[in-house]
Amino acid sequence: MSRSFQPHLFVILGASGDLTTRKLAPALFRLMQRHDELRCCHILGVARSDLSDAAFRDRIREALRDEPHAADADLSAWCDDHVFYQSLGGGSNGYERLARRVVAIEKAYGLPGNRVFYLALPPKTFPGTIEALGQAHLHKSAGWSRLVVEKPFGRDLASAQALNDLVHRYFDESRIFRIDHYLGKETVQNLLVFRFGNALFESVWHRGQIERVDIQVHEALGVETRAGYYDQSGALRDMVQNHLTQLLSLVAMEAPARFDADSIRQEKIKVLESVVSLRPEDVLLGQYAAGESDGRPARAYREEKGVSKGSVTETFVRLRMEIANWRWRGVPFILETGKRMPEKRTRIAIRFQPAPVSLFRPYEDTCDVRPNILEITLQPDEGFNLHFEVKQPRMPLRLAPRRLRFRYDEVFGDLPQAYETLLGDVIQGDQTLFVHADEVINSWRLYTPILEAGLPVHPYAPGSQGPHSAPQ
Ligand SMILES: NC(=O)c1ccc[n+]([C@@H]2O[C@H](COP(=O)([O-])OP(=O)(O)OC[C@H]3O[C@@H](n4cnc5c(N)ncnc54)[C@H](OP(=O)(O)O)[C@@H]3O)[C@@H](O)[C@H]2O)c1
Repeated sequence: MSRSFQPHLFVILGASGDLTTRKLAPALFRLMQRHDELRCCHILGVARSDLSDAAFRDRIREALRDEPHAADADLSAWCDDHVFYQSLGGGSNGYERLARRVVAIEKAYGLPGNRVFYLALPPKTFPGTIEALGQAHLHKSAGWSRLVVEKPFGRDLASAQALNDLVHRYFDESRIFRIDHYLGKETVQNLLVFRFGNALFESVWHRGQIERVDIQVHEALGVETRAGYYDQSGALRDMVQNHLTQLLSLVAMEAPARFDADSIRQEKIKVLESVVSLRPEDVLLGQYAAGESDGRPARAYREEKGVSKGSVTETFVRLRMEIANWRWRGVPFILETGKRMPEKRTRIAIRFQPAPVSLFRPYEDTCDVRPNILEITLQPDEGFNLHFEVKQPRMPLRLAPRRLRFRYDEVFGDLPQAYETLLGDVIQGDQTLFVHADEVINSWRLYTPILEAGLPVHPYAPGSQGPHSAPQ
C-alpha cells in the first residue's frame, strides 16, 4: 500500500450539501496548498442538483473565502483548475454519464486512474449509491480506487452487516475508509502516544490502579437544523455507537504489535469483543424538556421543528460498561452524551484508586484526599489535566487540589482540522484512523439489543446533567 500523495480524482457524492462546503472543500484546499504533490489532483463534485461547473465553483469559492491561505492563492484560478461538477439528474443514466465524465477528466489531465469516492450523502442513500457506482464499473480503473463512507454506518446490526456485504461486492476492506471524524483529532491520536510512548502512564493503566473511566461528549445546543435526521437516529446511534465507542477502544486497548493500521485495529476489535453485554439497568436514556438555555427560553425536543409529535428519540444516553478482560475486569466505563447539557465539552476522565491508607486522618476536616484524575480534553480545547493534591503552606495541615495542564494549541499553535488529517490519510491509503468492518459490527452487536429493548426515555431540564436516575 502506497503512503505517498499520488495524482488522483477526488469524487464527492452529495457535493451540494453542508459537509462538502463546511468541511471537505476547505480540507482538500488546505492539503493542496500544503503539499505540492497534490497540485495536480482534481475534485469532482456530484449530486442530483442541476449545477454547472461554474455554479459549483462559485459555491466552493465562497466556502473557501476565509481560509488562511486563500489570500495567497487566486481562488478563482484554483477552482477553475481543480474543481468540476457532474449532475446525476436529468435521466436514468446518471451514473453512466458520471463514469464518462470521470474518464474524460482523467484523460484531459493525464491522471493515472486513481480515484476516491466520498459518500457525503444522507445515510439512507449509501446502499443505492454504492450499488450504482459498482454497476457503472466506477470502482474499476487503471489505478487504485477507494471508498469513503460517512457515519453512521448502518442503523443496527442487520443493516450494518448488509451494508458491509454490499460494499465488499465492489471494494475489498483495504479500500474502504469508514470515517469517524473524532479519530482525526490530535488528542485522540495522541492517546496512543500518551499511553504507549510514556512508560509512566502505561504502568498504572489497569484495574489495579484505575477505579473508573468516564467518557463524556456534551453538547450545549439542542437538535438545531438536524431534526429530520436526528429524530430517526437518536444519541445512541448518532454519538455512542461511533464516537464514544471509538474513544473507549483507544483508552482500553492493549499495545499493538506494531504501529500500523492492521495491528491497531485488531487490538481495538478485541476490546469490543470483551465488553460484557449491556443490561437495560446499565443504560439511562433521556430527552430534553422545555426550560432555559443560556438565559433564554428553550423549547422541548418534542416541540423542535422537524421532530415528530410524541417522539421518544433519546437526546441523552448514559451507560455503564464492563470490559471482561485481564486488564479491566471490574472497572466501570461510563459513557455519556447529551444535547442541551450545561456546556459543550468532550473529555475522558481516568480516575485512579485512592491511596491505600490515609496518613492525614488526624487532620481529616482539612485534609480531604481526592482521587487523582487524568482528564483528557477534546473539546472545547485539546489537551489534558492531571489533578493531584498539594500541601497548602503553613499550619494546620491543609490539602488543596491542583493540576498539571497541557494544551495542544498553546504549545504547537493552530492544529490541523480533523477532516484535513483524515482526507490526507485516505489519499495516502493509510487506514489507521478509520473504522474496520469488524469494529462496526462488534459495536452494533453491543448496542442493537438496547435499541430494540424499548427502554423508557426520561425528560431532563436543559442545562442539567441529564435525568436524575442515571447509573453511576
Ligand atoms: N454536515 C456535517 O457537519 C456532518 C458532520 C459529520 C458527518 N456528516 C455526515 O456526512 C453526510 C453528509 O452530510 P450533509 O450534512 O452534507 O448532508 P445533506 O446536506 O443532508 O446531504 C448532502 C447531499 O446529498 C444529496 N441528497 C440528499 N438526499 C438525497 C437522496 N435521497 N438521494 C441522493 N442524494 C441525496 C443532496 O444533494 P442533491 O439534492 O443535490 O442530490 C445533498 O446536498 C451524512 O452522512 C452526515 O451524517 C455530516
